[in-house]
Amino acid sequence: MTQKVSLTRYLVEQQRVDGLIPAQLRLLLEVVARACKRISFAVNKGELGDVMGAAETQNVQGEVQKKLDIIANEVLIEANEWGGHLAAMASEEMEGIYVVPNRYPQGEYLLMFDPLDGSSNIDVNVSIGTIFSVLKKPDDHPGVQEADFLQAGAKQVAAGYCIYGPQTTLVLTVGDGVAQFTLDREQGSFVLTQENLRIPEDTKEFAINMSNMRHWDAPVKRYIDECLAGKEGPRGKDFNMRWIASMVADVHRILTRGGIFMYPWDKREPEKPGKLRLMYEANPMAWLVEQAGGAATNGKERILDIAPTKLHQRVSVILGSKNEVERVTSYHTEK
Ligand code: AHG
Ligand code: MN
Ligand code: MN
Repeated sequence: MTQKVSLTRYLVEQQRVDGLIPAQLRLLLEVVARACKRISFAVNKGELGDVMGAAETQNVQGEVQKKLDIIANEVLIEANEWGGHLAAMASEEMEGIYVVPNRYPQGEYLLMFDPLDGSSNIDVNVSIGTIFSVLKKPDDHPGVQEADFLQAGAKQVAAGYCIYGPQTTLVLTVGDGVAQFTLDREQGSFVLTQENLRIPEDTKEFAINMSNMRHWDAPVKRYIDECLAGKEGPRGKDFNMRWIASMVADVHRILTRGGIFMYPWDKREPEKPGKLRLMYEANPMAWLVEQAGGAATNGKERILDIAPTKLHQRVSVILGSKNEVERVTSYHTEK
């Protein structure tokens, strides 16, 4: 019988054989996975637990928080604060950074997360997820401050997401390709189900919220118009469309069978570069996609090269199958 490889074993081997994961990072990833397991069980309770619907609060982005946004945020903080592997955390649901309380030892890593991505899908029983990104704290000063988080995505040391769908699946990179783990509920552990995920370079599937079409910029409109023209148009092939409204679920589909995902800048809020957040949505997803052979840009530059200036900074996102992302990017850059 072929032995199943648990997440724990995978991480131990990555540490031992490849030296890719220092012990502290390994602990961090185990703890994040454990927190995701708890969130998964909370999600599954649905109406049977007190987890559905809106809370009576707003987050720093001015969005009404769902109960699960708050629960997932608390689970991640409680799980991660005592292990000694972290200096601080930052989250979509918290305005400032959360410094590890001084009753616990301070570690050298910084953890950022979108505790619950796709919140509008919670109450309608559609896939949602948790997205996370790990950085190393700069070691040139004691203590930790918000500025320590403002590192380009290329500096990430680990990134991933957990999707709560028909299965609960954890997808992870530490810079050595992308691995996928499925939660075995009977065993209570994540089991390696796919190694070295690859995104096909070409695709016939795009994901964008079409209801915003009238607000888009010309390059995005041109690209989608060409897709919609199908076989008879300049692309010479028919395209299919998907939009789940959970970035996690849209990116998971793209990592599984290819595609392009876009949440571009639009005229509704012209002062904002986009809807999605750079530090805990775009950066981790961009790194996963690149590690799987895809590409990720904001239309002008590689997402991972953007120098952040704010924790909750927004960004325009175009990611997925390489040739399509390059095409949309070229429409933005050509004169
Ligand atoms: P969140 O639930 O963390 O606020 O993120 C939702 C994001 C993203 O997951 C998704 O792609 C997008 O918002 C959907 O936005 P629209 O409802 O504007 O399509
Ligand atoms: Mn999100
Ligand atoms: Mn969220």
